[in-house]
Amino acid sequence: MTTRDEAAREAAALSEQLHKHAHLYYVLDAPALPDAEYDKLFQRLQALEAEYPELRTPDSPTQRVGGKVLDGFTKVRHKVPMLSIRTETDITPGGASAFDARVRKELGLAEDGPQVEYVCELKFDGLAMNLRYENGVLVQAATRGDGEVGEEVTQNIRTVREIPLKLNGKAPPVVEVRGEVYMKRADFDALNERQREKIAAGQKNEKVFVNPRNAAAGAVRQLDPAIVAARPLSFFAYGLGEVTPASEGGPDCPTQFDWLQQFHAWGFPVATQTARAKGAIELIAFHENIGRQRDALPYDIDGVVYKVDSVELQRQLGFVSREPRWAVAHKYPAQEQLTEVLGIEIQVGRTGKLTPVAKLAPVFVGGVTVTNATLHNEDEARRKDVRVGDTVIVRRAGDVIPEVVGVVPESLAKPDDQRGPVVTMPHQCPVCGSVAVREEAEVDYRCTDGLFCAAQRKEAILHFAARRAVDVDGLGDKLVEQLVDANLIRTLPDLYKLGFTTLAGLDRMAEKSAMNLVDALEASKKTTLPRFLFGLGIRHVGESTAKDLAKHFGKLDAIMDATEEHLLEVNDVGPVVAQSLRTFFDQPHNREVVEQLRACGLTWEEGEPAARAPKPLAGLTFVITGTLPTLGRDEAKDKLEAAGAKVAGSVSKKTHYLVAGEEAGSKLDKARELGVAVIDEARMLEILENGVTE
Ligand code: IVH
Repeated sequence: MTTRDEAAREAAALSEQLHKHAHLYYVLDAPALPDAEYDKLFQRLQALEAEYPELRTPDSPTQRVGGKVLDGFTKVRHKVPMLSIRTETDITPGGASAFDARVRKELGLAEDGPQVEYVCELKFDGLAMNLRYENGVLVQAATRGDGEVGEEVTQNIRTVREIPLKLNGKAPPVVEVRGEVYMKRADFDALNERQREKIAAGQKNEKVFVNPRNAAAGAVRQLDPAIVAARPLSFFAYGLGEVTPASEGGPDCPTQFDWLQQFHAWGFPVATQTARAKGAIELIAFHENIGRQRDALPYDIDGVVYKVDSVELQRQLGFVSREPRWAVAHKYPAQEQLTEVLGIEIQVGRTGKLTPVAKLAPVFVGGVTVTNATLHNEDEARRKDVRVGDTVIVRRAGDVIPEVVGVVPESLAKPDDQRGPVVTMPHQCPVCGSVAVREEAEVDYRCTDGLFCAAQRKEAILHFAARRAVDVDGLGDKLVEQLVDANLIRTLPDLYKLGFTTLAGLDRMAEKSAMNLVDALEASKKTTLPRFLFGLGIRHVGESTAKDLAKHFGKLDAIMDATEEHLLEVNDVGPVVAQSLRTFFDQPHNREVVEQLRACGLTWEEGEPAARAPKPLAGLTFVITGTLPTLGRDEAKDKLEAAGAKVAGSVSKKTHYLVAGEEAGSKLDKARELGVAVIDEARMLEILENGVTE
């Protein structure tokens, strides 16, 4: 039992912590604690206040519904307050039974009385929004704010495609539809990928978002609607604010389920999983059923919500301290948890990408025990400043790989000499020891040795045997997996040493298939230089580059020995490709593989070198910005450089052309300011084809 003084001290400390974290979460969209940890502190404070009610001051964090109103947006007083729902702390089936029992008690239902009917919904993890429609037209969108006063974000919300600007069908004079603005996981991942690229390109003001909810909240509170439009948001409707009564022309919906159908008819997304349920048993079944589907949903949910279906019964049940008695949130295991970093390792992926991975003290997150979490790349690991010994927030949502989203402030505050070293990537592949490089404008280090590295063996063999490479008919991924795992193939030449007996002796391999494979291997030996070159899987050397190289040099040895300068003369070969070819052929065992393949009998016709390519764009400087419709930025750069142009990183008076794609930002403004010609991708391709014609 705590004494009153102890309780007062603890409550004051908890209040301060909760205020700090609420500010980070709601105002700055940059939480430093997982929700579950915040909830623990919150519940502890609630418990102290229940024991000593005089500690429950009006400014206690427990007395506030939600966030705080931001400066910078017009304030809106909600006509009907936007309340919160009680969270059932018990995440086992018992949570649903407890809620049903409370409802029955409040309604005075006898134990053998009728079952209460509920609507079961998903608890979306985004931010609540009030959408006001007058005569069917969206006139105002507001965040929840503190429940009484929210922020007006109408312009931003108009960019959300899933929110109708005009209601379908018959609309009442006034209706406020409430629901959750959220971001789908795939959209979130793509957004963060773009953010990482921007940061890698030196844009200091950009940040990586910790989870979809924060990304959504950040987007909604952007002061520039154009930025909001570039961050794909989604919406689900689930509730009602002010509405014209049925007697005055409003819809007649006696149940929550009717309302959801009405929202759907007006054009709002309503989650298809929504279901009616009778009594606790069906609530439990819903909770379990959705729990099984949770990982496969394209968005985050942190639980389900049960609501008494009948609007009349909802009215009878009413509210306690700003939470309705007729609804409850029943959660699932949290998708973010705290744990300790025990070590940091570098893993090599199937394509040679080196990824720093945090080894963690086992932690139960998102329904599974996690011991590894990705740190993505060197820049990310450093930006988050993750070190061995730190306490970190780990997130696992859906089927995706768990990731470290950040280090808690307490670990970051430790003196540097009491923390582990900063993450540094090795310059050698930890699997095969070959050179690992980070190319210009790339965030990842890669092992340069696709042919030899055990981590990449399967991928390299499949690529070599592919139809568009030397084409070994019938050599699919299952078989390659079997051959590599049985240690029958280590490098490409081993393929040609496989005899009929070895193949026929494999599990699930019929004699006839073994025979066919021997024939296919034999047939693949007679190939062409472009196919062979493409088959080696040299980074950035696609089919068409392989063809250009073959045409330009005629012979494989000439390509293997060409200097970077000489390689740059080839049509479509820029510095990135040239460097990649050089690094590949500078590795002695890559050359050895080529020699052994020749010794195994692989042959192709060789030709004479072509005349040197002209450089029609020599002397011109280009800058590329934004997302081009068909070409990647590296690709566009390579094409321009191959034609002799210089491609610079920033716009200046010396720039001749700015190639601008979608979401072009400050470079476009700069170009306009300086009077630099702005062209699109199509025009750039035309210039590449015909030279500068105007
Ligand atoms: S109903 C009076 N239904 O959870 C009841 N809320 O603490 C008002 N939420 O602010 C809320 N999914 O942001 C309701 N199906 C759902 C929900 C849901 C997510 C969020 C919403 C609300 C918070 C409740």
